[in-house]
This record gives sequence, C-alpha cells and structure tokens, in this order.
Amino acid sequence: MMFLACVSAYVLGAIPSGLWLCRAFWHIDIRNYGSRNIGATNVYRTLGKGPGALVLLLDFLKGSLGVYIAMLLVGTPLAMVFGGMFAILGHSASVFLRFKGGKGVATGLGVIAMLMPNVTAVVTLVWLGIVFVTRYVSLGSIVAAALVPLLAFFFDAPAEYLVFGGAAAILVIVRHHSNIRRLLDGTESKIKAGRR
Ligand code: G3P
Repeated sequence: MMFLACVSAYVLGAIPSGLWLCRAFWHIDIRNYGSRNIGATNVYRTLGKGPGALVLLLDFLKGSLGVYIAMLLVGTPLAMVFGGMFAILGHSASVFLRFKGGKGVATGLGVIAMLMPNVTAVVTLVWLGIVFVTRYVSLGSIVAAALVPLLAFFFDAPAEYLVFGGAAAILVIVRHHSNIRRLLDGTESKIKAGRR
C-alpha cells in the first residue's frame, strides 16, 4: 500500500498543470517565457492574475492530494510524509517532462497545509510580507522554505514532519539556484502581472 501511495502521489505531482493549461487555453509553451519555469509565478508574470491563481491552486492541490492519498491508503504520519515528498518530487522531476519540472513551492505548500497548518499559516504570511516588500517571489519562497523545518521544530511537530521539512526545504532551495544567482547579481525580475 505504501508503494501504491508513493507512486500515485508521484504521478499526481508530475502532472505539469502550468504547462498543460497554458498550452490548452492560451496556446503558449510557458517554458519559452519569463523565468521559463512552469509554476504559478511565471504563469502570473506571463499571462496575469487569473491563469496564475489557477495554476497555484492546481499545484497546491497536487501536494495536498498526495498526502491525502497516503492517508487513505496507509494512514500513518510517515506514509503522509512520503506521499507529500513524492508529490513534490513528481512536480520537480516529472515523468511527463523528461524528469524536469517546477520548483516545488505551491506543491510543497499544499503538502505542509495538510501536515502542519500552523507552520503553513506562518510561512504564508512571511512569504506574502517578503513578496509585498521586495517584489521578489523567489526570495519569499526561499526564506519560507528555510523556515519550514525551524517552525516545525518550534511547533513541536512529529519527527517525521521535521525531517520532511528539512528535506523539502533543501529541494526547494536547490531548485531556486538560478533565482539565487540572479538575486545575487541583481538581475532577478520583480513580480508584476503580465499579459504575455
Ligand atoms: O515558486 C517559484 C518562485 O519562487 C520563483 O518563480 O518564475 O520567478 O522562477 P520564478
């Protein structure tokens, strides 16, 4: 059952919602625009609020459902962690995209919303604050990701969730390597809703 939960979560996470939606409804390959990422931020930057919000919701749901499937099939905290982790891995190394993919922020948020709602509330507020003040979404995502394991510790989360928080934070930060380079050399783009 654990194996089935992990495979289901991976396949669900691997669905590249941003790429497929942009292709189906706006007839563009989002990988040719902006940061070239398939995530909600780049869809917002390229196509505007509605499409960005839709991709954010779908990517978030992939993470939450990954955890939910594991909860139904196995039901232990460890299985839920695996379900969440495999959903994030699916999103970041998608079988539909030759093992390329997104940065795991929205999907990761969907996972922690299921596992640690209190941590989710705090990191969401921090993310919003940083993005509002600096206009750098990537900076908000990196700081928020780094805070997850620290807050999990602070809120006394189970050990499995703490380890998950650390692993997910590393994955998300590593996936932001090009953003980090751009932030350091001052070429990262500030967020603004686009119309292609
Ligand atoms: O969630 C991804 C965000 O942190 C950065 O996206 O498109 O600016 O690379 P992007």
